[in-house]
Order: sequence, then C-alpha cells, then structure tokens
Amino acid sequence: MKYLFYILLFFFSSVLFAISPYSAKVDSLLNIMTLDEKIGQMNQYTGSFLATGPLSDDTTIVAQIIAGRVGSMLNIIGTKNTRMMQEIAMKSRLKIPLIFGLDVVHGYKTTFPIPLGEAASFDIGLAEKSARVAATEAASAGTHWTFAPMIDVSRDARWGRVMEGGGEDTWLTTQIAKAKVKGYQGTNLKDKNTIMACAKHFIAYGAPIAGKDYNTVDISLQTLHNVYLPPFKAAANSGIGSFMNSFNELNGIPCTGNQYILRDLLKGNWGFNGFVVSDWGSVAEMVQHGFVNDKEDAAQAALLAGCDMDMESRSYTQHLKKLVETGKVSATLIDDAVKRILIKKIELGLFDNPFAYCDEELEKRTLLSPENRLEAREVAKKSIVLLKNSDNVLPISKTLKSILLVGPLMKSKEDMLGFWACEKDIASAVTPYEAILKNLPQSKVNYAEGYSLIGNQLINLKETVRKAKQSEVIVVAIGERWNETGEAKSKGNIIVPAEQQMLVTELAKTGKPIILLVMGGRPLIFNEAAQSASVILVTWWLGSEAGNAIFDVLVGNYNPSGRLPMTFPKYMGQLPIYYNYNNTGRPEQKDVSYSSKYIDIDSQPAYPFGFGLSYSTFEYSDLKLNHYFAHTDQTTTVTITVKNTGKVSGNEIVQLYIRDLVASITRPVKELKGIEKVFLQPGESKTVSFQLSPEELGFWGNDLTYKVEEGVFEIMAGGNPNQLLKSWLTLKNE
Ligand code: NOJ
Repeated sequence: MKYLFYILLFFFSSVLFAISPYSAKVDSLLNIMTLDEKIGQMNQYTGSFLATGPLSDDTTIVAQIIAGRVGSMLNIIGTKNTRMMQEIAMKSRLKIPLIFGLDVVHGYKTTFPIPLGEAASFDIGLAEKSARVAATEAASAGTHWTFAPMIDVSRDARWGRVMEGGGEDTWLTTQIAKAKVKGYQGTNLKDKNTIMACAKHFIAYGAPIAGKDYNTVDISLQTLHNVYLPPFKAAANSGIGSFMNSFNELNGIPCTGNQYILRDLLKGNWGFNGFVVSDWGSVAEMVQHGFVNDKEDAAQAALLAGCDMDMESRSYTQHLKKLVETGKVSATLIDDAVKRILIKKIELGLFDNPFAYCDEELEKRTLLSPENRLEAREVAKKSIVLLKNSDNVLPISKTLKSILLVGPLMKSKEDMLGFWACEKDIASAVTPYEAILKNLPQSKVNYAEGYSLIGNQLINLKETVRKAKQSEVIVVAIGERWNETGEAKSKGNIIVPAEQQMLVTELAKTGKPIILLVMGGRPLIFNEAAQSASVILVTWWLGSEAGNAIFDVLVGNYNPSGRLPMTFPKYMGQLPIYYNYNNTGRPEQKDVSYSSKYIDIDSQPAYPFGFGLSYSTFEYSDLKLNHYFAHTDQTTTVTITVKNTGKVSGNEIVQLYIRDLVASITRPVKELKGIEKVFLQPGESKTVSFQLSPEELGFWGNDLTYKVEEGVFEIMAGGNPNQLLKSWLTLKNE
C-alpha cells in the first residue's frame, strides 16, 4: 500500500512537473545534488533582524549556508542584508541562491490599512493595488517572497489575528485572495516589482476554540469545505507560488502533518504545483500536540503529509537524512519537495542573477515614495466605516473656529501602523493630530490627553471638560493599541476600557457634538460611548497615511463608503457572532421562551456585517431576475436600481445575498454573493447587475461532493444589510 502511494505520487509529480518549462533544468540539478544539499533546500532559518517567533541560539547558520544546508531565510531586511546573505550562499558548492521570505502583510515601508480595515472598503480593486505597492517596495528591498495573503475566514473577534484577514465572510475573503495573488505576483515572478505570495494559514486557523490563538480546531468537513477552503482554492487557482500550513490541529491531526489537506487535497485534488512551507516551528510542535513522539517522527509525518520546507524547527535538517537512509521516507518525496522549491527560485529569476533584487538605488527611490503614499491614503480613506452620524454632524466645516482632539491615540504614530507592520518606519506615519493641525489653519486646534493607555486612567477630567466647553466640536480617539491584536494577541475581553467610554459620556454632557474615532484591529464593544457620541467612525489601524485619511473623511473630502467585514457584537457573551449562521429549529422569537436566544442579553449585534453609512442616502428599487424559474446549471442575472437621494455625491456598496431555503444540509440564513461599488451624484440612479452562477448557488454536502440543488432561493440585495429587497428564484433539474 505504502509503495503504491509512492508509485502514484511519482507518477503524479512527474505529470505535474512535465508542465513546468524548468523541469529539465531542475532534474539535471537534482542529479548532481547530494542528499544533504537536497535537504538543505527544504530548510529555512530566520535572521535576527526581526523576531516573528521564538528565536534559537544557533550560531552556525553561516557555516550551514556555505555547506549548502539552507535553502531559504526569513526576516532578512533590506538590500544590504539580503546581498550579504546571498554572497554567503554563493560560496556553497552548487551556488544555489537563497530565497528570502518576509511578512509583508499590509505594505512594506509604506504601510496600508491592516487587512481587516482594507476589507472594510468592500473594494476588491484596492486589495490588488495595495499588494502591488507592497510588492514593488519589498522587491526593491531584496525580498523575494511574502508570507501573505492571510486568508483565514475568522468569526471570533477574541482571536487576535482577525486583523490580518478579510473578516468573517468566505465570498469576500475569496475575492480578496484572488486580488492579492495578482497584486503581489503580477504576471511574471521575474519582474523586479513582483514577489511570490503565500496563502496562509492552511487550514481553518481562524476557527480556534474560544478564539484562543493556536488553539484546537474541530469542525465538520462540510464546514471546512464550505467556509474555510474556498479562499485557498481560489489562491491556488490564481497561481499562487506557495502555501503555509497552519499551527492548529484540525479534527485531531495537526495541519503540518495532515496528509488529507496537504497531500490529497492541495497537491492532489487541486493540482497545486508550488511548495508548502511550515509555520514557524510547527513541524516540531507536533510533538507537543501529542501527534508524534519526537522531532524525527515529526519530520517524517510532515514530509509524508506534503510540507516541503521546514521553517525554523530544524526537524528536517536534523532527521530527514536518516529517515531516507532507513527507508522511512522515500527519496522521491524529497526530490518532489526540492523540485517544487527550485522551480520557484528559477521562476523568480534567482538562478539568472542571485542579486537581481539587491539594487540599493532602486530601494531608495521606491520606499515611501510620494506615489506610494498617495495610494496608501486612497486605500485608507476608503477603509473607514461610518456607523453613526446624528444631525449630520459630519462632515465638519473647514472653517471651524475651534476643535478639541482627545486621547493619546490621536498622537501615536506607532499605533497608526498596526500589528504586522514588520518593516515599519514609525516616524513616517501621519497621526490625526498632525493632519488636522496642518489642514485646518483657520481653526484653533486644542488637545487633551483625557485618558492614559497604560493603566487606563482618566487624566485631568476637569481640564478636558473645560477645553471641550471652549471648542465647537470634539473628536475623541478610543480603542486598542497596535500590539493588542495580531499573533498571540487573543483577548478574553474586547470591551473598550470603561474609563475611555466614561470620558466620552462626560464630554457629551457639555452638549458639544462628539465624534468618536474607534481604533483597533478587531470588532470592539463600546456601547456606552456609542450612545453618548454623535458620530462613530471605525478607523482601524490605517497605516502611514492614517491621519490624512481620517482628515479627508472628517471634512468631507471623501464621503465614507466602508462596510463592516465582521459583525460588531454588543456583548461578550455573544461571541462568536457572525451573520451567516444556520437557522435552528427554534429560531429566536421575542417573548417566546423556548426559542434560540439568551435570557440575559440581546442576541442582536451592535452593528451587523456589511453595515456602513454615508453622508448621502440611497434608495433601492426594482430588484429583478432575468428568470424566476431556471435549471440548476443556469446562471441568473440579478439587477437592482440604486438612487442617490441625498445632497452629496458618494460611493455606495451594493450587496447581493442568497439563502437556499431548503437543502440536503441546512444552509446559512444569508450568504454574500456579490458586491458592486457605484459612484452616484445627488439625484442620479444606476442599475447594477450581478451574475449568480451555479457555483455561487451550490455547496459541499456531507459526502463532500459539490451540489446545486433544486428548490427555492431567496435573493436579497441592497446597501443596508437590515433593509434588503427580496425576490425568489426556483431551481429545477429538468
Ligand atoms: C508565525 C505566523 O503564524 C506566520 O503567519 C508568519 O508568517 C511566520 N510566523 C513568520 O513570521
């Protein structure tokens, strides 16, 4: 049986690589490589410039590179350093270039909004644009490969890594995945403004029990296929060069050693011909999981499963040779892994010129260039979500007499950049305080600290209130700091500290309009502040141009159009909360005791997925289908008319949802299937059209086949998820 597997694998991988134009070149290289050198290609070490995981005290790395025992390094930053390391690799017998990987997650030096914030733009074009700029900067600085995009669907705001992805919706994350691959990789990896992308974390890392990072994931296979896999499949289909396996175990098997997901699904069924890198140390961590006895077993399990490169655990470099020599793993599997890695190095042009990405002049010209900053400002302003605007307090006039800015977050450059801004240049960030001070020359701009970020204490409340009384409007920044979300940043409490909220209430007592800027990397709970404030803007962590983008929205240079990519809960007890849940047999009914709800808290979120306001108003009409009865293999065209009924022009995000009313497995009460951003002048209307293909209407059943079933589908469209127009489509098989 074991041998049959190898024979099949060999057959399959030769078929796979026959389609690579570099197959012959790699084969001739493999012929002259020793087993040690091959295993070397599968080994990745971190540099000490940046620690994105627990560092080892290995002092032999340089010697290992010269001995051909290292294929890749991560966290080597800048052309100077990458050149230095590549020069060392050129001293090895075969001079195989190193590939340098880095977490370029939301920009390189020019920092874009955190991915969750960018997802709030509901603008897929922006996802591609920001990746393009990030790739251009990173490539100019010697990086070949980014560990991005992170496309883990995440439904639990306690999990710190929700900031890194597209939020709770599978369809939206899938569109983002495709756009990111295009943005990072362009059309040719050899181009010096592209880098190889990496789909991570494979798989279901976003579903840890209780939202605790690295925690166990136990979900049904149909949920895996319907909710978590689609963005990854889309990334694979878009030609992404690499995948990273996740830390978590899935249904009892750590993903690093999971043959079903890596070998069978990704490399087999999906025909992925790039390579898989482990997450930091995850090969050896299978010992802690209780899945293998020791690092040797871990190396065996990971290789058999399909993990091609070991990031930092040293299991491959220490044990693979013996495993091959004792026949526990086949040399064919090693060749397959090495081939995958070498092909990517060739595609990146590293064999033509190992120093191709080491151009210091280009690096200087590219990083933080005015054009890149402009793009960052564009994306940032479009990522802001307006949740409340009582009495049209916004936009404020540019000729206000006075304005009070409150809160240390107003002035904190580092916080503007957010987590995973690994190569950040803190000084280059523009804060709201700086932007407002500079751009409102006619206004007196006051500042009060109001509260402390450390220890959460109110600071000089009396003085803050006095300043508030002397100002026309008050802008208060509340929320969390940049390092309160991200890896290993799960929280048991996502409520904005009571002191910050109390301060908002006290300031509101002055009768002055309070504009709240909610900063953070995840949905937060701020019920008290929300009630007291006239305006709520969710401003996430917006990157290098945060302050300017916030200014643009405050004064109406940009009419906000962002929408929440994750549900904002009202109470901690609601978590995990997401819009696309399945109905129960006893759906919630007010005043009905035996129905699905809480006896002590409301079940409704504070703000639902897809919600966001504008300075204008929009009305919807004429939701139509091109047919109301169709065959299961037919595509349906859905049209809806949207009119700007307000006084200012603006972008509106038209959303399309479906509900499969009865199916062989129960389906969510709502599923996003389309978005369209339309710009409308006051009084203008446009008809927007969506295509609903069979693929959008189907699902994976418990038998793991994809099916589009007969029956009635509710079709919902509009701009506000609470007020959608509805129609019905009936599918038949004959
Ligand atoms: C661990 C993280 O989970 C992963 O996302 C990241 O790419 C690696 N560390 C490398 O920094």
